Amino acid sequence: MRIAFVGTGNMGSALLAGILAAGQDAEEVRATTRSAESAAQLGSRLGVPTIAVEDDTQANRSAVAGADLVFLGVKPWMLAETASELDGALPDTATVVSMAAGVDLATLTSHFPHRPVVRIMPNTPSSVGHGVISLAAADEVPAATIDELTSLLGGAGLVVRIGEEDMPAMIGASASGVAFFFQLAEHMVAAAVSQGLEEETARRAVAATAEGAGRLLADSPDPAALRSAVTSAGGTTAAGIASFAEDGLAEIVARAVRAAGDRSLQMEAENREG
Ligand SMILES: NC(=O)c1ccc[n+]([C@@H]2O[C@H](COP(=O)([O-])OP(=O)(O)OC[C@H]3O[C@@H](n4cnc5c(N)ncnc54)[C@H](OP(=O)(O)O)[C@@H]3O)[C@@H](O)[C@H]2O)c1
Repeated sequence: MRIAFVGTGNMGSALLAGILAAGQDAEEVRATTRSAESAAQLGSRLGVPTIAVEDDTQANRSAVAGADLVFLGVKPWMLAETASELDGALPDTATVVSMAAGVDLATLTSHFPHRPVVRIMPNTPSSVGHGVISLAAADEVPAATIDELTSLLGGAGLVVRIGEEDMPAMIGASASGVAFFFQLAEHMVAAAVSQGLEEETARRAVAATAEGAGRLLADSPDPAALRSAVTSAGGTTAAGIASFAEDGLAEIVARAVRAAGDRSLQMEAENREG
């Protein structure tokens, strides 16, 4: 499988590291960046041939030549310009995989007519192989291509195949959702510090608690059962959980998850228009 990464920054390089971990041959990959400095860093970190547009104006066009899969890791507002730049260089059979936030399959198809397009939405733990990557493919993408892509991206985390109508919910639950866990952690640290705990101790304790909770959830993905198992009637956890319920935590979280999904739909509309 020949793979090109056009724009290989934070998210692109996290996914590329996962793809290499899944067994992809680095010699069959071509990556590009804007600056020579980023290209040199990426090349030495991942051992992938990387060219900078700053050094070679044809870098993106040469990277996609002969590619079976072309990942687009440039910023969302650069997609239209990148599509025009690649015009005539992208092989007819190449599948285009976009990770751009707020750009839907219809807009991708308008940028890359006559190419199968796939939209993925990763989250940041992809950089440590524990991401969640939502994947929605246009109808014309062959099942074998989706299988291959799922297996490659599996090196970066859990790949969840969805219909595009489920993308807003997945953004709230995982792409933005990871930051919701971080925010809860922030508040737990602050609360412990306000009760007198040293900040470094609070941070380490909360981080280890999050890791432990994550591991238990990964083994048995039923949060209500896990919560119940640590909540004895009249005990300390029950007191905290009752405080959450009194303050309407369920509604607070539901509104945040919905806000993230709604913002994604709004961005899709803005990107369709302009
Ligand atoms: N970060 C996240 O949490 C996240 C989550 C989901 C989706 N995404 C999506 O991932 C995409 C990339 O975001 P990011 O956070 O990874 O941004 P980033 O770190 O800034 O990466 C952008 C990459 O594009 C390169 N680039 C800029 N202009 C280019 C050009 N003309 N040709 C080729 N490469 C060029 C940059 O090179 P230089 O480094 O040399 O400038 C860099 O490698 C975005 O579409 C974003 O919506 C990000």
